Amino acid sequence: MTYQDLVANSLSDPETFWGEAAKDLTWIHQPKTVLADRAPFYDWFPDGVLNVCYNALDRHVIDGRADQTALIYDSPVTGSQRRYTYAELLDQVARFAGVLRHLGVEKGDRVVIYLPMIPEAVISMLACARIGAVHSVVFGGFAPAELAVRIEDAEPKVVVSASCGIEPTRVVEYKPMLDEAIRRSSHKPEHTVIVQREQSPADLGERDLDWKLLMKPDAVATAECVAVQSTDPLYVLYTSGTTGRPKGIVRDSGGYAVALRWSMTNLYGVQPGETWFCGSDVGWVVGHSYIVYAPLLTGATTVLYEGKPVGTPDAGAYWRLIQEHGAVAAFSAPTAIRAIKKMDPDAALLADYDLSSLRTLFLAGERLDPDTWQWATDALGVPVIDNWWQTETGWPITINPVGIEALPIKPGSSGPATVGYDVQVLDPSGVPVEAGVEGAICLKQPLPPGTLPTLWRDDQRYVDSYLSAFPGYYLSGDGGYVDDDGYVFIMGRTDDVLNVAGHRLSTGSIEEALAGHPSVAECAVIGVRDALKGQVPRALVVLKAGVEPDEQAGEELRRDLVQRVRAEVGAVAALNRVDIVEALPKTRSGKILRKTMRQIADGDEALVPSTIEDVSVLDGLRGVLEGGA
Ligand code: COA
Ligand code: AMP
Repeated sequence: MTYQDLVANSLSDPETFWGEAAKDLTWIHQPKTVLADRAPFYDWFPDGVLNVCYNALDRHVIDGRADQTALIYDSPVTGSQRRYTYAELLDQVARFAGVLRHLGVEKGDRVVIYLPMIPEAVISMLACARIGAVHSVVFGGFAPAELAVRIEDAEPKVVVSASCGIEPTRVVEYKPMLDEAIRRSSHKPEHTVIVQREQSPADLGERDLDWKLLMKPDAVATAECVAVQSTDPLYVLYTSGTTGRPKGIVRDSGGYAVALRWSMTNLYGVQPGETWFCGSDVGWVVGHSYIVYAPLLTGATTVLYEGKPVGTPDAGAYWRLIQEHGAVAAFSAPTAIRAIKKMDPDAALLADYDLSSLRTLFLAGERLDPDTWQWATDALGVPVIDNWWQTETGWPITINPVGIEALPIKPGSSGPATVGYDVQVLDPSGVPVEAGVEGAICLKQPLPPGTLPTLWRDDQRYVDSYLSAFPGYYLSGDGGYVDDDGYVFIMGRTDDVLNVAGHRLSTGSIEEALAGHPSVAECAVIGVRDALKGQVPRALVVLKAGVEPDEQAGEELRRDLVQRVRAEVGAVAALNRVDIVEALPKTRSGKILRKTMRQIADGDEALVPSTIEDVSVLDGLRGVLEGGA
């Protein structure tokens, strides 16, 4: 059977395909129903009962993997490394699950996790899964405003955080940001558990508890796995839309575990017992799925890397990790490879390492440009595989399924549709286009297991955001085309969502931070092309009447605005350029023409809508916009 046949079978008879895949998990009650249709909603394995933590840890310990390494924490920024066997990780997780219980966390309660890339992040996530609590991890690079909206929406009983994170150039104090976020949120967690790090311990207040004290042997009773319905949420992960209000992507338990276990071996080609390195962050979906859940559900060894692809200490960092830990495959973002290429264009540092264990490099998170693909392919001499996915889907929508069959690679394409995904390109009226024609990339419902069933406590927003444009289809928000061989080419977002160094950010959040400045009347943020980060934001601000800064004051104001975005949204937003302008181009109904401005900045053909209010405003901005980042 070819891979194409497999895809066809998964679409024509999803029950048989996924029912078979579900047998790789240990269920408390084996599901009798594979897929329940409540169109436009779908439930995977609705009568199945399981525990995801049991599947990620306990069953491996029972099955003889107790002494196998489950997690390798490798932290060049602190100069430390720690290994956890499956038995040790289980012990820590059961203990922290007991702590959460002791703090009053029950099945269905939320726990926000705001941590750097340290083992406590993985332990906290699995501890939630163990007791049926819903975790919501917030990326450590987000500042108080972003953290606050997530706390407000998720309403956690407990927040788990650390005193600090460590970036190559500075120590990032997490605790003051957490305190500020809680101050801003109308919902207050009952407790905050703080991991004190020696690089900068925090002063603990009334609400704060010290992780280390809670985790002392015999401090609290450990907790066993609880039975969880397959459709119960495992986590909520917030992702950026175009507004400042992030979307709470809900992940179910059973469908996700089935899809991830299947994908690890069949798509990524990783077998139980093998080591794999995924250089993302647990705050992003790639980190949730392929640092934590998929490798552990598989009984593989996962590397948790607290460092960067360059500068910790050099551009050979990834090669060291692969050699030292014997990784059979690695996963990162194209921007990381571009950063390595920039520092070490001839890949000279590779000569210092033995990468014979490496079979494949996977890249995702943003478009993999053919130059970067070629460079990595030449340097590593192994297949370099692009894969396209979103927080919403939880695992790849398109990929070259090397675990089943290594298909030809087409640079610039993220590969053919994955098993279970019916990828269609639609024109504005919702009609599928011919091969090679660009349009809105959509997924015909039902989506496979592991993908979002809805948005957190907001079915209507789920329908409005994703399902209402083309009934029967999920709107991905990405544009592109499919060629005659079924290979998908992603050309970029069709909305104003930014993708900066593989980080998905909202124009709305950055605009809100800018608009909060007392001198700003209105503003627009656009994402423009950048050779290293793929995209970086640029801001155009209109000042309030009467605010007329001279050159020096204008410079100060621009600096203030950049600082404001760092403090509110986070340094990852990487806003460096703010232009003060007279007016913003709009349609007659008042919509700011961000896309047109972006096209001008990128030097692309700019499509000026006929509904533009005053074309002279746009023309007046051309000089400012041209020249890109
Ligand atoms: N906590 C606190 N601050 C963070 C952070 C975190 N977890 N992550 C990043 N930041 C800060 C950085 O310190 C930096 O601050 P600075 O402006 O004061 O220097 C800023 O946010 C921007 O960081 P970053 O995006 O990492 O850019 P960079 O220029 O420092 O490094 C790369 C460039 C390419 C090396 C880096 O972006 C990278 O490793 N990208 C891979 C991204 C990735 O894996 N994405 C996941 C998708 S699969
Ligand atoms: P996130 O939800 O943070 O994973 O970001 C998802 C978005 O990143 C997608 O909608 C795409 O715009 C972009 N993206 C992710 N992977 C790829 C890829 N392989 N090629 C092109 N764009 C990608």
